[in-house]
Order: sequence, then C-alpha cells, then structure tokens
Amino acid sequence: GEVERVDALIARMTIEEKAGQMTCLADSFRPFNPPNPQVGIQDERRLAAEIRAGRVGCLFNGIGVAGARRAQDIAVKQSRLGIPLLFAGDVIHGLKTIFPVPLAEAASFDPTLAERTARAAAEEATAAGLHLTFAPMVDVARDQRWGRVVESAGEDVWLGSRFAAARVRGFQGRDLRRDDSLAACVKHFAAYGAVAAGLEYGSVDISDETLRETHLPPFQAAFEAGALSVMAAFNEINGVPATADRDLLTGVLRDEMGFRGFVFSDYTADEELVAHGYAADDRDAARLAVLAGVDMSMQSGLYTRYLPALVKAGAVPMGTVDVAVRRILYVKTALGLFDNPWRSLDPAAESRIGTPGRRALAREAAVRSIVLLQNDGILPLPREGRQHIALIGPFAEDRDNLYGPWAFYGDPGKGVDVASGLRAALDDAARLTIARGCDVESPIDGGIAAAVAVARAADVVLLAIGESQAMSGEAQSRTEIDLPPAQQALAEAVIAAGKPVVVLLRHGRALALGGSLGKASAILATWFLGSEAGNAIADVVFGRVPPSAKLPVSFPWESGQEPFFYDRKSTGRPADPGGATEYRARFRTTDNSARYPFGHGLTYTRFVLDDLRLSDTALRWDGMIEIRARIRNAGQRTCSETVQLYVRDRVASRTRPIRELKGVQRVTLASGESATVRFRLSRTDLTFIGSGNKAIAEPGVFDLWVGQSSVGGLNAQFTLYAGEPARTD
Ligand code: IFM
Repeated sequence: GEVERVDALIARMTIEEKAGQMTCLADSFRPFNPPNPQVGIQDERRLAAEIRAGRVGCLFNGIGVAGARRAQDIAVKQSRLGIPLLFAGDVIHGLKTIFPVPLAEAASFDPTLAERTARAAAEEATAAGLHLTFAPMVDVARDQRWGRVVESAGEDVWLGSRFAAARVRGFQGRDLRRDDSLAACVKHFAAYGAVAAGLEYGSVDISDETLRETHLPPFQAAFEAGALSVMAAFNEINGVPATADRDLLTGVLRDEMGFRGFVFSDYTADEELVAHGYAADDRDAARLAVLAGVDMSMQSGLYTRYLPALVKAGAVPMGTVDVAVRRILYVKTALGLFDNPWRSLDPAAESRIGTPGRRALAREAAVRSIVLLQNDGILPLPREGRQHIALIGPFAEDRDNLYGPWAFYGDPGKGVDVASGLRAALDDAARLTIARGCDVESPIDGGIAAAVAVARAADVVLLAIGESQAMSGEAQSRTEIDLPPAQQALAEAVIAAGKPVVVLLRHGRALALGGSLGKASAILATWFLGSEAGNAIADVVFGRVPPSAKLPVSFPWESGQEPFFYDRKSTGRPADPGGATEYRARFRTTDNSARYPFGHGLTYTRFVLDDLRLSDTALRWDGMIEIRARIRNAGQRTCSETVQLYVRDRVASRTRPIRELKGVQRVTLASGESATVRFRLSRTDLTFIGSGNKAIAEPGVFDLWVGQSSVGGLNAQFTLYAGEPARTD
C-alpha cells in the first residue's frame, strides 16, 4: 500500500534528503522568477545541482511545461531516490483567464460560482505545469485598511467558510490523481486578518475564543473539503509567531482540528523568527519552526542548511523530521506523482489555456460580482437611442488595473477595459466621449477642466474612479480607505457640473466614500473583475444582466471606524442615533453604523418580503425549525435577490454579536412573481465558543431576521430549550 511505500522510502533517506524534501525554492527553471539570492541559487544550472543532490522537494512560482519537465527529469532520473518534485504557485483567481478577485466573487454570495472559477483556474494551472496553488486565502478580513482583504471572502465567518470549502473543492476537483487536480494550500494559519490596525505582517493579540469562533471556522471548512496543505501565517499571535507556535500548528491544527496534510511556511517566515525577536539566529529559527510543525520551509533554505546538524546534535528528534517528510510524501502520493511524475506536465495541454469557454465564465463571474450600492433610477442606461455618455476617470481606458493583485501570470493588457466594454455594447460608439481627468494618485494639468467640459456636453457621466491594483494585496495596507485626493477633486468637480453621475468604483477593499459621492445618481462597486471587466460592467450598466451581488464587507462612513464589521457586539451603551444622550458607543462626529452594510446590494427591481412564518417558536435541543418568508418582485424587471437569515442570541455566558448570518437563499423572479424562501435552524447553527474552548449552545431566546442585508428585515423570535418546551397554551 501507499503507507508502506512512503515508509520504505523514508527508511532509505538520509537526513540531508529529508531536509531537501522539506524545502520549497523559487523556480528559476521557468522565466517568471527573479534570481533567488537568499539561497544563492541564481540560475538553472545551480538549481539543477540542488535537485540532483536531493536538496529540493518543491519548486514554486514558475510556470510552463518545458521548464518543469527539465526539472522533473533531473529529480526523477538523476537524484539518488528519484522522488518527484511538487510544483506550486500562487494561482489566486486565475492563471491566464483572470476571474474576479476573491473578494469580488464573494459578493455573489454564491459559493458554487467560486467553485466553478476555481475549477477553471485549476485546469489552466495544471495545464501550465503546476500541482499546487497557494490558495484559497480564507482569512476573515475585519479591517479594511489591510491590503489582503482583496484576497479574502470578506468579513463574515459563515460566508467565508462556505467559500473556503467551495474553492478547495474547485481547485482539487473530484479525483486528486487526475492531471487537472490542483492541490489547495489554505492560508494563512491563523488570524492574519486580525493584524492590529490592518498593518501587513503586524501582530495579533486575540482571545482563544475569538480565534476559534471567528478565524478558524473557514480553515475547518476547507479541511473538511479535503485541503491537502496549509500555510502558516507571517504574524505572531499573543507573542508567539505562528511559524514557531507549536500549540497552534500542532495542538490546534492537528489535535483539535484534525488536519492531516502538510504545513508550508510563508515566504522566508522561518528566517524571520529572528527579526520577530523569537529565535536567536537562523539555526534556532529552523529548530523552532520544525518543532512547531512547519513541514515545508519556503524559500529561506533554512532546513537544508540546519536540520542535519540539529538532528545530529539531538536538538530536533529524527521522529519529528520523519513525520514532516511523511506528510509531504503523502501529498505527493495522493496526487499520483509517484506513479506518474509527468502528471500535469503534458506539452499538448498548454494549448488548452485561455479558452473562450473560460472567458465566458470570467464574464459571468464578473457580472455576478458587481454590487449596486445606490441608484436613483438612472440605471440601467438605454443601450440604444441618442443619449450621450461621458466616461471620465483614470480607469476609463486603463488596462493595467483590471486584474487586481496576484494575477501575475495573466497576459498584461489582454483584459477588456471599461471603454472597450461600453463601446462593444452600444449601438453607436460615437455616443461615448472619454476624459481621463487625473491619474490614480496625482492630478494632470488641465485634467479636471477638460473632464468637466466633457461632462457638461453629455447627458450622463460614468465616473471610473477608485484604487489601483497596487493599492491592495500583500504589503499594501492603507491608513485611509478613501479615494486618493486627486480623484476626490475630480469627482467633486464632475458632480458639481450637474449631470447625472454613475460612479464605477474600482477597489480591493471596502472604501469610505467622502465628499459629494453620496450625491451620485448611482454607484456600482466593481472591484477588480479580471479579463472580462469592461464587458461585465457594460452588461450591468445597460441592464443586459441586472446586478445581484451583495457586499461581503461593510462600507463605513469614515476610515476611522475600522476595524468595522456587522457582527459586532452591542456594548453596554449601544448607539442610539438621534437619542437623548451622547454617552453612547459612537464617535464624536459619526454614527458607528455602515454607509452600505454587509449584505447590501440593490438591483433593477424592488423586492418585497412579507409573511414570515416559523414552523415552531420552540426549538428542541435536537430539533429543527423551518423559517419561511414570501418574496415578491414588485417592480418591472426579472431580477435575482439573495435573501439572508440572521440570528441573535439575546443572553449568553459570553456576549454574542448583534447579528450573525446563518443562511442565504437566491431567487430569480419575473415582474409580479413571488416565491417562498425557506431556511432551517438547529442547535448546531447557534453554537459559540464557551469555556474550555468548547463549542456550546445555550438555551434561551433568539431573535431572527429574514432580510435583504444585515440591517432591517422581518423579525421573529424563537426559544431554544434544553428539555421539553414549556407549554404556553
Ligand atoms: O502565497 C504567498 C503568501 O500568501 C504571501 N507570501 C508569499 C507567498 C508565496 O508567493
């Protein structure tokens, strides 16, 4: 069997070869990577020597079948034990066909969409010679200043868990041994989304309960979906860097959560234990990381340098090393690499990258990611007729900021920009006039005056403003989550010109929209939508497809409200806008509410919810209640709505959030049509982390809401009983 095969191999390995299997280096066989000075491997020839000597188990961030075959050939035919290499890479939202950034896709509130795009990304990645992707990122992103919000599924635990599992299923496919199955690496373990002030690589100080309640569930969901690997986070938690945290990487990850795959470090994170002030030197760092449970060291080369000596000195037991190697070899076995080291390295497969079918999926996903934040009725615009449209802003004709961060294998300039998308949709492209107005972060001479002139000559203005892709992603934390001043000035001037303005926001996080933007006739959140961005925006602007997405992150009024999320605590003095006293949980000048709440998203009709019914207001301990409501399309157009179920546990031994999402139902209804949406709740939906870090539910009264966002909705109560419900009749 496979266990015996792996064990027999381990029995033959030297400690040097074991340390090699536990090492992942940048792939200088393939052109993408810059030289790798950390380990002195500057070129293919030297990397070849390392592979031949059995000092590398994994290469990352190179693509292309030819280079991978050369490297694999050396590993399989020229190294002593012939163990195949694993090829890894950051395929976060597509390889050549770029899908919307993960945050945008989460706005679909539909994990099955993310499963399909992950599958498509996996097909391209494996055709390009990869076996594993450093995705999905499942960090719960609670502070919009943090740059990596863009790679997350947003601020919610329930939604994030469903997207985590769906993406793992999509990447890995149904059969791990197939050529197009891409192993997932779930990241970043753990609580990276909780770094203080949203500062990238920053510190996390967090209770055991919040860690388990908020940050671990998406990982658990990903593991249950079969994720083969996980990446330790860069950050420290409560004074211990995750990369050296044995309680976390072994106690929590393995003993509590039952994870069976292997753990990657992040890029040189083991070496960074020295800068953290946790390891005395590199040798100490290698020792701490391996003892904590980091199986595969990324890029530092620390394991090949120090593990042999550490084992010989008795500082690291050989058993610990063997366990790590076993986990890595198990994944290689699961992927079928021992039987076929050439899997996913078929030169003919490369021609299947970037097919029209995947472009169609990219367009569908992009359309389903666009959130209509406000609309006075201007949208949709007529596609035909005489209306003159001004397209203004730095993103009007921009092709460099369509993909978003982590799309570095995508062909630059191959995406559809906004202007091209609009032109292709319009019956007469001459109705479109374009003005740049300013650059993303700086004014251009005469830019605003020219833009205002173009606005005045038009019937309606589309204002394409927001963040560049360099403003989010790794190492791109911001102190203010607003528009850069040059663009704010442009927006003020264009809005003051008096024509109806539709804002097309581009962004990798929730933004705080200041000044006159609230006066815009309509605002669409369009994130970074990928290869088909412009076409998808045109689809929604002209109403070929009505918008149906919902915000996966709350948009605050001001940056200073961050960290801001809908499932916050009541406090002893909950905000009471307009109330008699100012001694409330609020800021001096701002209500601590959302400008656009989590779950918000309009469409081109009006949906009305009514007739909320519960199958029972008593929920028995092992029972279930069904919640039903009617939804009616009270407008003119066929549209889709995502109805959301929230609950609140009124009294608990640890205070509970004011609301928590527990279910979503998507319906599509024609004008005048209605449907019944149904949800179910049982005790397991009502658990939280109680004393001893155990998930518990407590009897008592719960509120529930069925609504169209995390604010408002139809409201009812039910009671969870530990024993027989008291009779009230
Ligand atoms: O996968 C990434 C990780 O998310 C951040 N640091 C670098 C890794 C490899 O590129």
